[in-house]
Amino acid sequence: MTWIGARVVRKDAREKVLGKARFVADIFVPGMLRVKVVRSPYPRARILRVDPSEALQVEGVVGVFTAKDIPGRNCIPVVLHDLPLLADGEAKFHGEPVALVAAETEEAAEEGARRVVVEYEELPPLLDPLEALDPSSPKIFGQDNIFKHWKVRRGDPDRAFAMADLIVENTYRTPYQEHAYLEPQGMLAIPTPDGGIEVTGSMQCPFYVREGVATVLGLPLAKVRVVQAVTGGGFGGKEDVPSIVAGQAALVALRTGRPARLIYTRDEDILSMSKRHPGHIYSRYGFTKEGILIAAEVRYILDGGAYSTLSPVVAWRGTVHAIGPYRCENVRVDTYAVATNKVPCGAFRGFGSPQVLFAAESQMDEAAYKLGLDPIEIRRRNALRDGDITPTGQRLRAEVGLLGALERVEVASGWKERFKLPQTKTGERRYGIGCSTVHYGVCLGAGGRNLDRAGAFVQLMYDGSAVFAVGTTEMGQGMHTVLSQIVAEELGLPYEAVRPLAPDTHMVPDSGPTVASRTTVMSGNALRDACAPIRRQLLEVASSLLGVEDPSKVRLENGIAIGPDGRRVGYDEILRRCFLERRHLASSGFSVSPETTWDPETGAGDAYITYAFAANVVEVEVDMETGEVEVLRVHAAHDVGRAINPIGVEGQIEGGTAQGLGYALMEEVLYDRGRMINNQFSTYLIPTARDVPPIEAHFVEHPTVVGPYGAKGFGEQPLMGIAPAVANAIFNATGCRLRELPMTPERVWKAIREARTEEGR
Ligand code: MTE
Repeated sequence: MTWIGARVVRKDAREKVLGKARFVADIFVPGMLRVKVVRSPYPRARILRVDPSEALQVEGVVGVFTAKDIPGRNCIPVVLHDLPLLADGEAKFHGEPVALVAAETEEAAEEGARRVVVEYEELPPLLDPLEALDPSSPKIFGQDNIFKHWKVRRGDPDRAFAMADLIVENTYRTPYQEHAYLEPQGMLAIPTPDGGIEVTGSMQCPFYVREGVATVLGLPLAKVRVVQAVTGGGFGGKEDVPSIVAGQAALVALRTGRPARLIYTRDEDILSMSKRHPGHIYSRYGFTKEGILIAAEVRYILDGGAYSTLSPVVAWRGTVHAIGPYRCENVRVDTYAVATNKVPCGAFRGFGSPQVLFAAESQMDEAAYKLGLDPIEIRRRNALRDGDITPTGQRLRAEVGLLGALERVEVASGWKERFKLPQTKTGERRYGIGCSTVHYGVCLGAGGRNLDRAGAFVQLMYDGSAVFAVGTTEMGQGMHTVLSQIVAEELGLPYEAVRPLAPDTHMVPDSGPTVASRTTVMSGNALRDACAPIRRQLLEVASSLLGVEDPSKVRLENGIAIGPDGRRVGYDEILRRCFLERRHLASSGFSVSPETTWDPETGAGDAYITYAFAANVVEVEVDMETGEVEVLRVHAAHDVGRAINPIGVEGQIEGGTAQGLGYALMEEVLYDRGRMINNQFSTYLIPTARDVPPIEAHFVEHPTVVGPYGAKGFGEQPLMGIAPAVANAIFNATGCRLRELPMTPERVWKAIREARTEEGR
C-alpha cells in the first residue's frame, strides 16, 4: 500500500491555517437579506398574537414571517415528524423560534426582531423527565410523554441475580452537553429563477437539509439543491438542526425572492440547538465471586426535551450499548426517551452511549474493588472477544480488538506499578488511576438500516489529477484526507493529485447522514466502487503498453504502472493513450451496508455491522481540601480496524479525549425554572488547551471485513470512555465514588466531606 496507513497532511490544513477557508459567514451575495429569529422567552406558553407592525416600521426591515407564511408543512421531518419550523399556537421551550425578521442589514434585522410583539399566555411547564413519566403528570407528548421505549430481554435475569455472589446497584446522572463547535449554525438560501432554492451552509447532513427545506417550502427534492460550505465542527450538533436554520433562511428567500442569510449568535445557538441528552440511569449488575458478570439490569431515561427529533434513535443506540463491552447472558434493559419543556436533545458524539457507559464502567469498577480484583483484570475476564455473543445476542466476527487495546493501555500506563488500593491516610493531594473500556457499533445499524448507503463520483483527468465527490461531509474529522488517500490508492495516483469536492445533493445520490462514524466505511466503499472501472481502464492500457498479457499483474503506484518484470510506464503516456482511445475515466459508485436486524420485543439481533473497541487509563491528582481534580495523563488505545491516516487517528483521540474531559469535569447546561441561564461561553465552560493533559494515543488494528482495507471508523469513541475512567481514578485516589457528572470541585469536595463525616473524621 502506498497511501493507506501513510501519515499525510490534511487536505484542508492549508486553507484553514491561512484563514482562506470560506465558511458561510464569509459568503456574501448581492442583494442578500439578513435574517433574525424571534424566540419564546417562556418554557411553555400559548401564542395568542404576533404583531409585526412595529417591526415593519424599522428602516431596512423587509418582512416578518410566522408559521402562517409557510407554503409547505410546518415540520422539520426527523423520525416522528413533530418538530415545527416555527411555533404555531404553542411554544414548548425557552428559545423556540416563533417568527423571522428579514432586513437589509444585521442591525435592522435585530432591531426588527426586538420590535415584533408576541402576546403569550404562560402555561405550567413539565421540566423533570422522571416527573414526566409519572402517570399523574400533565401530558405534553402523546398519552404518556414517552417519545420511545426500547427494551432488551435476554435469558433470566431474576434467576441469575438470585445466584449472584455480589450485586452492585446504583443510580447515575449525566448532564446536558453542548457541542461547542467553533462555528455557529448558519445558512444562506438563494432562490433560483425556476422557483427552486439553493442552500449552502454549515452542516453534517446535506440530504436531511434538502428534505427539511423541500418539506417546509412544499417543493420537489429536485428543486432544492444543498451544498455544504466549509463547516467548523459538528460533533452531532449539525445533524438534524441545520435543517431548521436552512428552512428559516429558505422561507425568507422564497417569500422575498432574494438571497437570505441566517447566522445564529452563540447565545441563540446554545439556547435553541440540540444537546447531548441528560441521562438518568438505574443499574444493577450481578457477579460471581470470580468477577464474572452473570446478570445486568438497566433502566435508562433520557430527557428528550420539547420535541422528539433524534431521541428515538439516540435511545436505541444507548440500549444496544447499555451493558458495556462485556459478555452477559441475562439482561434486562428498558430505555425511555421522555418529553419535557426544554431544549430538544439530539445527536452528540457517542449518540446516547456515553451516558450508559458512565454507569456500566463505574459498575464494573465498583465490582472489582468489592471483589478484591484489579479493575483491569475484571474487565479482561468479561471483555468481548472474537466469536463472543454481545448482550443483545449478536455473534461477533474475528475482529474484536478489545483485549489488545486493554493490554496496550495497561502496559503504556505502567498500570501494574501505579495501581494501589485507595489510601485511607489524609493528605492534601492524592494520586489515583482508573480505567474504562468501550465498544461502539459502527454505522447506523438496525436502528437506521434504510439510510445506510452512500454514493460517490470520481473523475480522472487526462493530466493525472482527479476529483471526487461523496454525499458525506467534512466537519473537521478528516474525511477529505482519508477518502483522498483511498482514491489515490485505488487509482495509483499521488495523494496530492486528488481533490475532494464539496458535497452537493445534485451531484451524488442520497448518502444518508454523516454520523455514527460511518464515513470511512460507507463513502470509502462507495469510492472504491467508483474507482474500480477507472482502474480497470488504466490497467488495460498500461498492460498493453507494457506488453503484459494479464492486466492484474500490473501494479499502479503513485502515477506509474509497473509490470511483473519491473518495467515501468508513466501515467502521462497511459492517459494520453486513454484520451486518444476516448476512454471513459469518470464513474459513480454506491455502497450499502450489510444486513442488520433487531427484534423490538427482545432486542435480539445483529444490531451493527461491526464494532470498534477502546480502552482508557486516566491518572489524576485530587486536592482533598478543595475537591479539584487535576488530570495528569490519559492513555487511550483504540481498535480502529485499520488506521488509514495515523495522524488523523491520533488527532481524533486527542480531540475526543479533551471533549470527554469536559463532559467528565466541567460541562453543564443550567436551567432555572425552565429558562436556560448559561448559554454563553463565559458561563458554559469547556476545556481550554490549559486544561488538557498529555494524551498518549495508541491504536491497535483488528481489521473488519466490512470496511475499506479493514478500517472500522471510530470518530466518536475517544470521548466515550473518558468520564468513567476519570470517575474511577477519583475513586482510586479518594475512596469516594461519584455517580453524577460533571465531577466539579463542589461535587468532589462534597463526596469527600460526606465520606469523612461517615467515618467520623
Ligand atoms: N472531529 C472533528 N474535528 N469535528 C467533528 O465535528 N464529529 C465527530 C467525530 N469527530 C467531529 C469529529 C462525530 S459526532 C462523528 S459521528 C464522527 O467524527 C464522524 O466522522 P466519520 O464518519 O468520518 O468517522
